[in-house]
Amino acid sequence: MIDLHSHVLPCLDDGPEALEGSLAIARVATGEGIRTMVATPHVSSRYPNRAATIHGRTAELRERLDRDRIELDVRAGAEVAPSYLPKIDRAELGGLCLGDGPWLLLECPLQVDAPPLDEAVSSLQRQGLRVVLAHPERSPLFQRDPGALSALVRSGALTSITAAALSGRFGRQARRFSLELVQSGLAHSVASDCHDRYHRPPGMGRALSETGLDALADWLTHEVPGAIIAGTEIPRRPPGAPGARKLGPRSWWRKARPAASRAGTPGRGDARR
Ligand SMILES: [Fe+2]
Repeated sequence: MIDLHSHVLPCLDDGPEALEGSLAIARVATGEGIRTMVATPHVSSRYPNRAATIHGRTAELRERLDRDRIELDVRAGAEVAPSYLPKIDRAELGGLCLGDGPWLLLECPLQVDAPPLDEAVSSLQRQGLRVVLAHPERSPLFQRDPGALSALVRSGALTSITAAALSGRFGRQARRFSLELVQSGLAHSVASDCHDRYHRPPGMGRALSETGLDALADWLTHEVPGAIIAGTEIPRRPPGAPGARKLGPRSWWRKARPAASRAGTPGRGDARR
């Protein structure tokens, strides 16, 4: 498996405070079947990390993993806050992309009064970057208006939902919405967003299995993330996977019908992303 979203690097954000914590995460990750992990420290006003620092810290961790014979391929990346984008120039943005690919992980705001993401996403796209939206299932922006997320996906954005959200770690609302996103074809990858080995540990397989998503697991945790970090074409969603089935009468999409209708509900093309 490839974990696209992790706070595994030490001393850069709210992840581990020392290298030993990073190694502990790495050991748990390999036990969970993760072979590649993209280190995505926050890049925000609170954590104004630079690409050079992230790449340097990634190289140090890789060296230590190699020495300790922990078979985890850690790549550099970042989780960029939309509000911090005006302070980052194009060259720096390129250094913050996931792995060696053209995709930037953009944090979906958790604040209820956050502005829409449309302008941030289109600005990045105009600069030739592609956007992966991190944990949209936890963002009030999209919980209120799923059609806004659907519109961003139609514009070319992909999403990465957090495995623990599927399990209910972030509450019932995020759990239900994350499942709806998978079923409606608006989830393109599942990552751990791990921060430590105990409270926010790495691992995606169990959450996918518990929620009956085994048929999609390889696509969500290997095929799509692999294409994202390699910069290759995003593989189509497996035919017949969950999402083909109809949503229930209490579906989020039905409740949010007026907003979803304005921006358009996801079409078949979205479901294959
Ligand atoms: Fe994160």
